[in-house]
Amino acid sequence: MPEKILIVDDDVDSLKLIGLMLSRNGYEVSAAHSGSQALAKAEAESPNLIILDVMMPDMNGLEVCRRLRANAATQKIPIIMFTAKTLIDDKIKGFEAGADDYLTKPTHPQELASRVKAILQRSAAKQEPMPSSGGQRNTTIGVIGSKGGVGTTTIAVNIAAALMEMGENPVVADFRPGQSGLAVMLGLIRTQSMYRLMTAQLSDITTKNVENSLATHASGLRALTSSTNPRESLARFNEEAAAAIINQLRFIAKPSVIDLGSGYNTLNVRLLSEIDKLLLVVEPNALSLISARDLLKVMDEEGHGSRTSIVILSRAPSSIQTSWQEVEHTLGREIKAIISAAPELAFQAIEAKSPIVLLQPNSIVAGQLKKLAESLKTRIRQIGN
Ligand SMILES: Nc1ncnc2c1ncn2[C@@H]1O[C@H](COP(=O)(O)OP(=O)(O)OP(=O)(O)O)[C@@H](O)[C@H]1O
Ligand SMILES: [Mg+2]
Repeated sequence: MPEKILIVDDDVDSLKLIGLMLSRNGYEVSAAHSGSQALAKAEAESPNLIILDVMMPDMNGLEVCRRLRANAATQKIPIIMFTAKTLIDDKIKGFEAGADDYLTKPTHPQELASRVKAILQRSAAKQEPMPSSGGQRNTTIGVIGSKGGVGTTTIAVNIAAALMEMGENPVVADFRPGQSGLAVMLGLIRTQSMYRLMTAQLSDITTKNVENSLATHASGLRALTSSTNPRESLARFNEEAAAAIINQLRFIAKPSVIDLGSGYNTLNVRLLSEIDKLLLVVEPNALSLISARDLLKVMDEEGHGSRTSIVILSRAPSSIQTSWQEVEHTLGREIKAIISAAPELAFQAIEAKSPIVLLQPNSIVAGQLKKLAESLKTRIRQIGN
């Protein structure tokens, strides 16, 4: 199949001339005569290369270039900037806007042909799959709540922070566009980029793009967070995109800690098969317990039961909570960890935008969270060996 090249130039003669040169070299050529048309065609046609004129009346080429780079659908298409200007300053601006190469007008047909060929070869090489020997696939730990508000995000963020303190290289992530408690807890509400990844085309969910979407908390903890913009929770996204993101995280994080939110839904059903080890967070009261029991039953039926451990998180004093023995009895399995109530500390941690284990490492609750993380670390080693 011939490679497709989109040429963008407001000058019709120039379009024709370059088009002719390229089609003689066997490329399939498409043309746009304005910036806005270029953006639309780039998205609709997914060309293999875009040749972009800098000087255009409606939107200059640098702006077109920036917009192409900001859109997940066109982000990876190589761009050659084309201009009459030879100023070094323009070249720098072009590269800053995301261009891959630069050509000045008028161009010799042979120079055009060889630059185009080189860029296309380079981009084809980049898209080759990662060799199986390169890059180790690490473990994924999922945290799911029996109900909303039971402390799922608190557990996820703290085990990730504790694992980091133990010398691991974790990433904590959530797939909850519009409802990210994680972004708030880490003070990363301006850097959330999960939405962009989740709505991207599968071919754009590369290790590099996922890595570039990570934000870093002041402590050094890496996170991939959704947003707190309610509109984003209306977005339609593909569950396969979310699964692909987890798969890429396996190369980037050791381990990935995924905040799955609460309960059973189409997204979680898909993601559960990407999770190696699942923590089910239960609040010791009847409301949470019955949900947990029913959820466990379904997960057992779906084959996830053996990977699931129970974590109790108390948010109220033990005198007004169901005992752990009762929880164990109702759920029919052992409790992996108990996190005591510490409402003040939990509040302070959110205010300080810092996980409890980092804010007050010597507190009882931090000790419990670190112990839980330690037990998961043993598990990571077992899988790694
Ligand atoms: N050990 C604790 N004691 C008391 N309160 C706690 C404790 N751990 C967490 N909390 C508080 O409980 C609230 C809910 O926690 P968190 O956001 O982690 O729950 P969630 O299950 O992720 O909620 P959502 O369903 O909204 O995502 C927060 O205000 C948090 O500070
Ligand atoms: Mg949460």
